[in-house]
Amino acid sequence: MKTRAAVLWELNSPWSVEEIDLDPPGPNEVLVKMAASGMCHSDEHVLTGDLPFELPIVGGHEGAGVVQQVGSNVSWLAPGDHVVFGFVPSCGRCPSCSTGRQNLCDLGAYLGGGKQIADLTSRHHARGKDLGIMCLLGTFAEHTVVHESSCIKIDDDAPLDKACLLGCGVVSGWGSAVYAAGVKAGETVAVVGVGGLGSNAVQGARLAGAKHIVAIDPVEFKRTKAKQFGATAVASSMAEAQPMIAELTRGAMANKVIMTMGVGDGSLIGQALSLTSKGGRVVVTNIHPLLEPSVSMSLLELTLMEKQVVGSLFGSGNPRADIPKLLDLYRTKQIDLDGLVTRTYSLDEVNEGYRAMRDGENIRGVIVF
Ligand SMILES: NC(=O)c1ccc[n+]([C@@H]2O[C@H](COP(=O)([O-])OP(=O)(O)OC[C@H]3O[C@@H](n4cnc5c(N)ncnc54)[C@H](O)[C@@H]3O)[C@@H](O)[C@H]2O)c1
Ligand SMILES: [Zn+2]
Ligand SMILES: [Zn+2]
Repeated sequence: MKTRAAVLWELNSPWSVEEIDLDPPGPNEVLVKMAASGMCHSDEHVLTGDLPFELPIVGGHEGAGVVQQVGSNVSWLAPGDHVVFGFVPSCGRCPSCSTGRQNLCDLGAYLGGGKQIADLTSRHHARGKDLGIMCLLGTFAEHTVVHESSCIKIDDDAPLDKACLLGCGVVSGWGSAVYAAGVKAGETVAVVGVGGLGSNAVQGARLAGAKHIVAIDPVEFKRTKAKQFGATAVASSMAEAQPMIAELTRGAMANKVIMTMGVGDGSLIGQALSLTSKGGRVVVTNIHPLLEPSVSMSLLELTLMEKQVVGSLFGSGNPRADIPKLLDLYRTKQIDLDGLVTRTYSLDEVNEGYRAMRDGENIRGVIVF
């Protein structure tokens, strides 16, 4: 069939919205008509080359839609079902999945190639070439074909233009606080960068019972929004936050520091470590450029004060459990998804959406189909 998609042909060029050819789903694949897709910073990392994904590629990995057709082996989904995509697939059978670490599913090894898991070929084509799909999804498209392991079925009554955010930003941010940082009641938490992910780290820290939540961002609008999501104090930089956190904690500093800046910067990790209490933890959720050569921090501080620096993918959560769980928390008004969507866009406006993200105008821009 023909459909329309935003394709990246070359690094540092605009997304090209064009007609593409889409093959029918293979035996373990699903054809989905997209309803909405969030515009996460990670697609920008593909455009700049920070994330080494093969080009050309259909962008987008934070999507929700309605199943149109399923392959012959897909027994648990049917046309009409509503799905959110997990940006990491979860097979349910590999060592990681079977021990409650679906974010580290072995199928994640296929992400960078962008080809279908089943046979490493493409269902998406344009200009006589095979196209990859971002995170095995390609949600910047009116229709896409994905592996069943990327699909999470949700209730039909959930608004898809909000539920799409659960496919990446919400779980990745919320889980960075609740799971990766392991925020506990009464703790002090700093979140560095409060855009799409950081806003959800703030919400996670609030729900976990943090006493102080310090949101750090150079953009005033982000700081204002962070207070609505539960931040108790704000600062425009880590340097400004340092004396503030020292005063709030009588010198003990933050138990958990969560890094959710747009582009990670290895030269700032030492500063993050200085915001952290002894026995505390820095969670690195933001993506650092592939070719960033080094990180600067005091390993003496790490040892003598038993500080930790840990990475986190998909909020260290389980897509099959956490996407429905957070949707329920939205229903019961314990997390806010509506407030995350600053503006909606058409597919044709995808480049304008990313301009707005770069200029700090959006918590999240969402493409609505
Ligand atoms: N680990 C994962 O599973 C995962 C998942 C999705 C996204 N990410 C990554 O997380 C990062 C954040 O993504 P996003 O979609 O929230 O981006 P975003 O652009 O919406 O938000 C980034 C925020 O960081 C702020 N910022 C920039 N420089 C800063 C600085 N020096 N100090 C403090 N704040 C600063 C920006 O003003 C912005 O508000 C990106 O690198 C993205 O690729 C990681
Ligand atoms: Zn993302
Ligand atoms: Zn698995």
